[in-house]
Amino acid sequence: MIEVKDISFSYERGKGRALKDISLNILEGTYVGIIGPNGCGKTSLLRHFDGLLIPDKGKVSVDGLNTRDAANLKKVRQLVGLVFQNPDNQIVGTTVEEDVSFGPGNLLLSPGEIRRNVERALEMVAMEKHAGRQPHTLSSGEKQLVAIAGVLAMNPRYIAFDEPTAYLDPSARKRVLAAMRKLHREGITVIHVTHHMDEITHADEVLVMEKGAIAGRGKPAEILSRIEWLKGLGLDTPPVTELLWRLKLMGADVRVEALTLQDACEQLYSVIEKGISGGSI
Ligand SMILES: Nc1ncnc2c1ncn2[C@@H]1O[C@H](COP(=O)(O)OP(=O)(O)OP(=O)(O)O)[C@@H](O)[C@H]1O
Ligand SMILES: [Mg+2]
Repeated sequence: MIEVKDISFSYERGKGRALKDISLNILEGTYVGIIGPNGCGKTSLLRHFDGLLIPDKGKVSVDGLNTRDAANLKKVRQLVGLVFQNPDNQIVGTTVEEDVSFGPGNLLLSPGEIRRNVERALEMVAMEKHAGRQPHTLSSGEKQLVAIAGVLAMNPRYIAFDEPTAYLDPSARKRVLAAMRKLHREGITVIHVTHHMDEITHADEVLVMEKGAIAGRGKPAEILSRIEWLKGLGLDTPPVTELLWRLKLMGADVRVEALTLQDACEQLYSVIEKGISGGSI
C-alpha cells in the first residue's frame, strides 16, 4: 500500500503550497485515476510516491517504508515506477534493449537476471521484436512503450503514469492504454493521471484534485456524472455522460451515471420507445 498521511508541500519555503493536507491510501492491485485542472498538484503528488519529493509535513510510506528516511529510497524507487508525459525525455539508451536494461542495471542484478527482466518487460508491452532498434527510429507511441518497459524491468509493484498519452496520436494512445490495462491485470497497481476522462472509466477509484487538495473521490460513474462540477473545474466530461446529462435536463428519464456507449444507447432506445408508444414521436 502507498500511504499518504496529511502531507503538505511547497516548492519554495514561505510560498504557496503545491499540496495541502492530502491523505489517501493506494491499495495494492487497484487502478486509481487522478484528474484535476492544470497546476492543481497532480504531478507534485506523484513525485511524492517514489520519494522524488519529500513532504514538508506529514508522511508518505510505500509498503511501510517511509520516504523521509533516505535509507529507504532505493527500495521505494524500485517498488514505485514513474512514467511521464513526454517519451523523448525518458529514453537514455542507444538501443531499446540497452535503454530498458538501465533500471535493473542500477539495481546491481546479475547479467542473467537483467536479461530476463528486460525480455519479460518488452514482452509485456509487445515490443520484444524491437529490442535492437535505435530509440530515435521509434514512433512516439513505441517510445512510450519502451519507457514503460524500462520501469517494468525493475519489477515494480506500483506504476504512476503522469498523462502518459498526452503526446500520442489516437492509435498510439490505444496501444499505450492497452499495455497499462494489461500490466494492471498482471497484478501491478496503476495510478493514472490524465486529462482524458474516457481513459479512467474502468478505474477502481477516481481522485479529483483542486488547488493542491483532494476535492472529491469515488467510483468513476459517481465522479464522471457530476457534469456541472467537472465543468466548473474546467475539466472535460465524457461525451456519453454529457449526452445523458443533456437529455435529463430536457426532462428525459435517464441515468447520467452511464459510462459506456452501450449503456447510453440502451437508455436512448428506451426513451425513444416510450416517446413512440406515448405518441410524442
Ligand atoms: N519545479 C517547480 N518549482 C516551483 N513550482 C512548481 C514546480 N513544479 C510545479 N510547481 C507549482 O506547483 C503547483 C502544482 O503543479 P503540478 O505540476 O504538480 O500540477 P499539475 O496538476 O501536474 O499540472 P498539469 O496539469 O499542468 O500537469 C503549480 O502551482 C505549479 O506552478
Ligand atoms: Mg502535471
